Amino acid sequence: MSKIDDILSRYREGSHENLIPILQDVQEAEGYLSESAIISIGSFLRMSTTKIYGLATFYDRFRFIPSGKVHLRICNGTTCFINGSAAVVTAIRETLGIEPGQTTRDGRFSYELTACQGGCNEGPVVWAGEKYHTHLHPDDIPEMISKLKALADLK
Ligand code: FES
Repeated sequence: MSKIDDILSRYREGSHENLIPILQDVQEAEGYLSESAIISIGSFLRMSTTKIYGLATFYDRFRFIPSGKVHLRICNGTTCFINGSAAVVTAIRETLGIEPGQTTRDGRFSYELTACQGGCNEGPVVWAGEKYHTHLHPDDIPEMISKLKALADLK
């Protein structure tokens, strides 16, 4: 049984109200919503893929392309924002040359903006490479990305 079939088996066929939970489960399992996953979900729920895409794109949290080898989760919560996260986001966007939800052409990086990650006293906070990067300043970003690049190349 494929991962998608396994997820769908937990839900009632044809129940449109399960769309969002199913999309969440699939994204958690696969890292993104592939075209084939959307087709399977549409067939299971008896919904058109156009309608599913339409609803899914309404939510920022869904991705339609695979994440990079290193995925950065940048805190966009209030305290991190007050502590300068907007400038950190700008530095990351300029260094990587992509917007949130996109993946670099070389497949190394992707990033998203998140709600509070629970480390407000240490903000701005970014979770990447299986650890928290704290008290970030825009000037720290080139070195952080360079170290994460080495990590991505090991994957
Ligand atoms: S607001 Fe960023 S960790 Fe809480």
